[in-house]
Amino acid sequence: MRLNVTVNGEPKQADDVWEGESLLYVLRERLGLPGSKNACEQGECGSCTVYLDGVPVCSCLVAAGQAEGHDVRTVEGLADGDTLDPVQQSFVDAGAVQCGFCTPGLVVAAHDLLHRVPDPSDEEIREALAGNLCRCTGYEKILDAVRNAAATS
Ligand code: FES
Ligand code: FES
Repeated sequence: MRLNVTVNGEPKQADDVWEGESLLYVLRERLGLPGSKNACEQGECGSCTVYLDGVPVCSCLVAAGQAEGHDVRTVEGLADGDTLDPVQQSFVDAGAVQCGFCTPGLVVAAHDLLHRVPDPSDEEIREALAGNLCRCTGYEKILDAVRNAAATS
């Protein structure tokens, strides 16, 4: 089938999408947007998190057809040209990126949190990021990154 979807503000089409294909696969393999990562493909890790109509979702669990006619924003779409979003910049500055597999999903989840709760408590940060797993950092630098982003945005 042909999929029509708006991605990062631009109308996109993908052809020959099969019925069971995930939105994550379409983004990465058909639309050339590898920012969203495929770490578990089971909705467990959050590394594939994107906005679907403004709501963060695990794109590995969204059937491509469910995105037909909808609006998707990926981690690539958070930056303004070469200027990183404050959340992205804070992850870099805090050293919250090691292997980087978890980072795109964490950035989208943190971006969503700060949009809803501009000055979150540590508890609110932990709760908002609870669905995003990181095997490398021990989470402290990730918490620092979100705290810093909240303080500077
Ligand atoms: S790849 Fe989607 S939740 Fe892990
Ligand atoms: S930086 Fe490697 S999984 Fe988080």
